[in-house]
Amino acid sequence: MRNVFKPGQLWPDDQGRHISAHGGGLLLHKDIYYWYGEDNTEGYLNTVGISCYSSSDLYNWKNEGTVLKQEDMPAPLQGKNNGRVERPKVIYNEKTKKFIMWMHAEQAGYALSSAGVAVSDQPTGPFTFLFYDRPVLFEPEEGYDAHTNEKELGNSFRDMHIFVDNVDSNGDGVNDAYIYYSSEGNWTLYIARLNEDYTWIDLPTQPDRVRPQYTKEQLGEGWSRQFIRKMREAPTPFKHNDCYYLITSGCTGWEPNQAEYAIADHPLGVYSVKGDPCHGDEDRTTFGSQSNFVLPLRPENGEYIYVGDRWKPEDLAHSPYVWLPLKVTEQGEVIIEWRESWSK
Ligand code: DGJ
Repeated sequence: MRNVFKPGQLWPDDQGRHISAHGGGLLLHKDIYYWYGEDNTEGYLNTVGISCYSSSDLYNWKNEGTVLKQEDMPAPLQGKNNGRVERPKVIYNEKTKKFIMWMHAEQAGYALSSAGVAVSDQPTGPFTFLFYDRPVLFEPEEGYDAHTNEKELGNSFRDMHIFVDNVDSNGDGVNDAYIYYSSEGNWTLYIARLNEDYTWIDLPTQPDRVRPQYTKEQLGEGWSRQFIRKMREAPTPFKHNDCYYLITSGCTGWEPNQAEYAIADHPLGVYSVKGDPCHGDEDRTTFGSQSNFVLPLRPENGEYIYVGDRWKPEDLAHSPYVWLPLKVTEQGEVIIEWRESWSK
């Protein structure tokens, strides 16, 4: 049995194979942690699907198999058609009792750039793929991104995260949830509120569309633009003491770069940038990682776990994970420090 985290090293599952849940998301449900991610064992293209692992201690993970198989996804997302899915996250809806997965649905070349949504009755799947689409249609000052057909389809949807607040603002019995994603060809980050069942954005149906899209009419209400033309990726939100934190990376492909964190008093922002949360990170690469998740450990003491990916583009399957202690001080400062090995 393992009882330490070893950031940047291979991490065997219960079958002795390196965990393949890259760009992943964690869900705590009935005292069990579930870790979902890209199964990159066969390389870059989506030839496997979304994996799931379970654990009661965060050190030892049981492989629960492929919870969303690539062959159960729409044809354009399958590996044989150059499909790829990235950064899946799963949340639980208290009202529908469903597990909802959102993901960045993509193809090699990064022009498909859409949100994929899937649901399951169990945390360990199987998940049923519902659709892929884009949640916002907005013409930015610098124009639509032509590479991703933003004018026709809506603004592009890439690196993403979902956050469920502990607030039910409209009293519908379901806590508010928000999707965060890099849009406008990665130039600007979007945040949008989800609907009551968390399967799309929070808007009534529109006559000319199967699924509604936010437009400039709702800007600042149901959705917002943050870090305008600042090229931020890997959005990683969490909440501490009624303050909304958001860690992001720069945009340098698979190469690690310097993280930044920002704070706001509402999930939709406005976010104000505070700086690099990594202390002692001499080469300013987020300790050779890219942010992906912040998991509460002892939040009452400001203690969280930073979860990042250390991408190995030449061998994505063996990309290690970087899990480090993250502390929020009494003054609200976020501090991440390197550890060769550590225990919670
Ligand atoms: C950085 C993103 O954060 C990753 O999820 C992936 O899309 C790579 N870029 C691809 O270069």
